[in-house]
Amino acid sequence: MSHRLRMRGRRLGPWGEYVNHAYARVLSLPPLIAILSPHPFRHLIPLILSPSPMSVILVTGGSGLVGQAIKHIISTSPPNSRFGKKDNETWIFINSSEGDLRNPEDTKRLFEKYKPTHVIHLAAMVGGLFRNMKYKLTFFRENTLINDNVLWSAYQNNTKKVISCLSTCVFPDKVEYPLDETKIHLGLPHESNFGYAHSKRMVDIQNHAYKEEFGCNFTSAIPTNVFGEYDNYDLEDAHVIPALIHKCYLAKKNNTPFIVGGSGTPLRQFIYSRDLAKLFIWQLREYEDVEPVILSVGEDEEVSIKQVADAIVEAMDFKGSYEFDTSRADGQFRKPASNKKLLSLINKPGEEEFRFTLFKEALQVSVQWFLENYDTARTGVRK
Ligand SMILES: NC(=O)c1ccc[n+]([C@@H]2O[C@H](COP(=O)([O-])OP(=O)(O)OC[C@H]3O[C@@H](n4cnc5c(N)ncnc54)[C@H](OP(=O)(O)O)[C@@H]3O)[C@@H](O)[C@H]2O)c1
Repeated sequence: MSHRLRMRGRRLGPWGEYVNHAYARVLSLPPLIAILSPHPFRHLIPLILSPSPMSVILVTGGSGLVGQAIKHIISTSPPNSRFGKKDNETWIFINSSEGDLRNPEDTKRLFEKYKPTHVIHLAAMVGGLFRNMKYKLTFFRENTLINDNVLWSAYQNNTKKVISCLSTCVFPDKVEYPLDETKIHLGLPHESNFGYAHSKRMVDIQNHAYKEEFGCNFTSAIPTNVFGEYDNYDLEDAHVIPALIHKCYLAKKNNTPFIVGGSGTPLRQFIYSRDLAKLFIWQLREYEDVEPVILSVGEDEEVSIKQVADAIVEAMDFKGSYEFDTSRADGQFRKPASNKKLLSLINKPGEEEFRFTLFKEALQVSVQWFLENYDTARTGVRK
């Protein structure tokens, strides 16, 4: 059999053969160096020398609580580490100033502009209990439009992977606890936020349908209550931790009592935004299934609202009077979510270990961030 090289069925001349041979040698150089090198890390040489495909990771909702945390972790972790930026990655963080994701044309334009290979989809209409109760249709409609536009544009642009962000609010109101990933569709969500919850649940349906019909690799994450730097502290609209931080700040500033709504006894699982950021980066790189993953601390790490308020009082060094307004509703006593699936997957031998930050430590830095950034934070106060 002739060893002469052929290109598209044509025989190459001597010059062509020389070029082709040289090219083949260059391609085989990294393994050759690896075999000859005495260095213990020689197996890494081919990886270093052979170019890996570029990834463009688009983070929607990049200016918010979770988006800012991902930006922080990816840029401050050691480059090429488990949670740091890899050399072959470009990370793009967008918010509504670049385009309104409720609008299909804006969404299409953003996907055509950045051509993301991967998307972490965080953008959403988000709010506390009061806003959820008041604007059920708006929460349903806006989030449904945003999610549909993002997933459709990702499909149209051959995006390799999308992780969308759900919430433990999507779970049924009447269900056997603890919540786990198999229980999302087993009953109606709590009526206080059924617009937001139904809309977010539909993302799981879409992910399965995109996979079955088009073979897409779309999945979702389900965080519990998130807190941290860049939270929304607007008292009209905030979740419990940022609302209490802001209230305690005002009580200290105005020398008034710090009043916490309810009895303080309900228990909740809170996740620090920078821990959540690491888990999103893990899910992006190391998790390849359509089924969602609950991203949360364990059920044994539930914290009462009183413990939250105590920790804020301590972090704020608040010395004034502090009381609970028991005339205000408490909400559900507890709604524990299991993080068993996450724990079974996240820590592997040879990989950098993931650990949750202690609640009090994370709360301390969040309060500090609020105090240092009050002028620019989302407080709803005209400054
Ligand atoms: N916070 C929690 O406790 C919690 C708990 C569970 C799940 N989640 C989920 O986590 C994700 C991130 O939440 P977050 O707390 O980081 O929210 P956030 O701080 O309120 O940030 C929301 C982000 O979405 C963007 N956005 C909103 N509407 C948009 C639109 N029409 N077009 C383009 N961008 C838009 C915002 O951009 P602008 O800054 O330009 O407005 C912002 O970047 C959400 O999907 C949320 O449902 C949050």
